[in-house]
Amino acid sequence: MNNKPIGLFDSGIGGTSIWKEVIKLLPNEKTIYLADSKNAPYGKKSIEEIIQLSVKNTEYLLSKGCKIIIVACNTATTNAIDYLRNKYTVPFIGIEPAIKPAALQSKTGAIGILATKGTLSSKLFEKTANEYSKNITTIEQDGDGLVKLIEEGKLNSVELKTLLNKYLKPMLNFNIDHLVLGCTHYPYLIPQIKSLIGEDVKIIDSGEAVAKQTKAVLEKNNLISFPQDTIQHQLYINSNKTVLQNILKNTPTNYIVTELHF
Ligand code: DGL
Repeated sequence: MNNKPIGLFDSGIGGTSIWKEVIKLLPNEKTIYLADSKNAPYGKKSIEEIIQLSVKNTEYLLSKGCKIIIVACNTATTNAIDYLRNKYTVPFIGIEPAIKPAALQSKTGAIGILATKGTLSSKLFEKTANEYSKNITTIEQDGDGLVKLIEEGKLNSVELKTLLNKYLKPMLNFNIDHLVLGCTHYPYLIPQIKSLIGEDVKIIDSGEAVAKQTKAVLEKNNLISFPQDTIQHQLYINSNKTVLQNILKNTPTNYIVTELHF
């Protein structure tokens, strides 16, 4: 079992921001990444649809023999991870907006959270927000439209900059000093975000924390891989693979991207 791959899935290419952290921290682990781009964005779908798609993605990764599954999507984690954990025996790692560190470190007493509608309206998000944001102002913003543009590879488009400006500028009026990126697609927008909000607002994304948590869970379950001669990561996408290939450019590892009818 130890040398089986780590499985990851997302509604599309965004979860590769997590994948990159995982392969950096765990260079001896094989991975299989599934981008369900055909069904992106998940952020506007019903809980039932998100669960159904998460089950489908999980079944695919399990059919490939994955020993652990990282739900590399805030929307799928906050709406479906309890269901997945109840249904399957394999360990699941999830990602949700990092409100806790932002709230604890804030000096101005105001933080911004940019996430999908599906994440912001989930019970899990509500619970975490209630727990950690009692004494601070949290400005929650639905990043409607951003995932679609990232999936289309329009990272530097005027359209995307206009949306970001609309979503982020009002947060600055509240004097936020932390911005939580609550969607795994958004780390790909960090340069654009910084040019709008400046360097003083700290951007929090949870990729590294997820990688560390994955390592801890593998260790706890005695699932760390034994040394392997060659490692080739497999990435599957159920739409055109060009945007995924572009976003992975310069990733210093051995991987192969395959289009999938799924
Ligand atoms: N990467 C997903 C997330 O973290 C994007 C959700 C979507 O497809 O709307 O929430």
